[in-house]
Amino acid sequence: MKPVRVGICGLGTVGGGTFNVLTRNAEDIVRRTGRPIVVEQIGARRANPDCDTTGVNVTDDIFEVARNPDIEVLVELIGGYDVARELVLTAIEHGKHVVTANKALIAVYGNEIFEAAHEKGVIVAFEAAVAGGIPVIKSLREGLGANRIQWLAGIINGTGNYILTHMRDEGRAFEDVLAEAQALGYAESDPTFDVEGIDAAHKLTILASIAYGVPLQFDKAYTEGIARITADDVEQADNLGYIIKHLGISKRTDKGLELRVHPTLIPKQRLLASVHGVKNAIAIMGDAVGPTLYYGAGAGAEPTASAVVADLLDVARNINTAHHDRVPYLAFGGILDGDEELPIMPMEDIVTAYYLRLLAVDRPGVLARVATILSEQEISIEAIIQKEATEGELVPIILLTHRTQEKNMNEAIRQLESLVDVAGTVTRIRVESLDEQE
Ligand code: HSE
Repeated sequence: MKPVRVGICGLGTVGGGTFNVLTRNAEDIVRRTGRPIVVEQIGARRANPDCDTTGVNVTDDIFEVARNPDIEVLVELIGGYDVARELVLTAIEHGKHVVTANKALIAVYGNEIFEAAHEKGVIVAFEAAVAGGIPVIKSLREGLGANRIQWLAGIINGTGNYILTHMRDEGRAFEDVLAEAQALGYAESDPTFDVEGIDAAHKLTILASIAYGVPLQFDKAYTEGIARITADDVEQADNLGYIIKHLGISKRTDKGLELRVHPTLIPKQRLLASVHGVKNAIAIMGDAVGPTLYYGAGAGAEPTASAVVADLLDVARNINTAHHDRVPYLAFGGILDGDEELPIMPMEDIVTAYYLRLLAVDRPGVLARVATILSEQEISIEAIIQKEATEGELVPIILLTHRTQEKNMNEAIRQLESLVDVAGTVTRIRVESLDEQE
């Protein structure tokens, strides 16, 4: 039983978890793969107090690991863009297979990395890059391989969901909950990636490529964060039968693919509405299987390690398989020309329903003017709530609209904000029914 020799780069939260899971479950891993997976070397600048690395060669030069002739698989867990890219390309150049948890790396440099790996005939596995411990990549790439995927929508940032959940349940301040998520090891080193939706857009980009067989196109993803959601919006959504979640959404339409991350009102009865705290969940609609849902821990040391180690098991099993007989990196051997065959749609072409909140002067005719602007843009109102005046003469007006094109809504909001009777900006939150028939 010749062991598979692995080099781990980065011994932080996920690196430490990976080392510990590999060590603790070593016996079962051999039973599953028929070969031990041995950590030959670790590249890390700092020791991890949760890991006993006695007897393992530890270097502070991660590139030494990438060039080490005794290592067959490099596990990249340093995160970030540029050094990680160089490290992974160096490992590939030296004929090593790669396992990574780095969504930013795959979303931004994946096309280049897969091309280099294809030329060298090596595996690049990245299950841990999306939704931590949930095996959604394997499910989408292999388990749903019979299907034409119609849409997917997910809560794919644990930190953001943790913040929204605790703000709503405990009435705590945004910064307070964020600090807690950071202490628990959920947040990115730059937490604006979490709260601005960039991390979710990285993951959505990867899911969409695997779902539809298009190149990775992170630069075309629309991204909007959660920082502007107010307690009032949360309460109004609740009154209307909705909950606000930060979703990554990708749909196949006649005009191309939607690729967008933003706060979203979803009906309270949808399963995604019950996903709280750091948990992630992804709903995927396939034409044959119908709706499916994948749920679990989206961040944290051992949940993410679970996905990293599962990839290592796959590498151990496939290391001697001819490259062209392996599952393609992005599920499809023939990737469509994204621009011509299935383009990512500009945001102004997407069609969805909307929640609007505006502050208006309480006098006759104001509601009529608001309704006129919407009707001139062919936007149909589904529900309207006018609350009692709380800020001087100003009253909050909450509207729910039927589905309309984003371009029309942009124009309506521009006109609403220019009304003398409307104060400040109009809050807009998109509404998705996540109807299983759509
Ligand atoms: N910061 C990420 C999250 C970690 O909160 O989901 C997992 O990718």
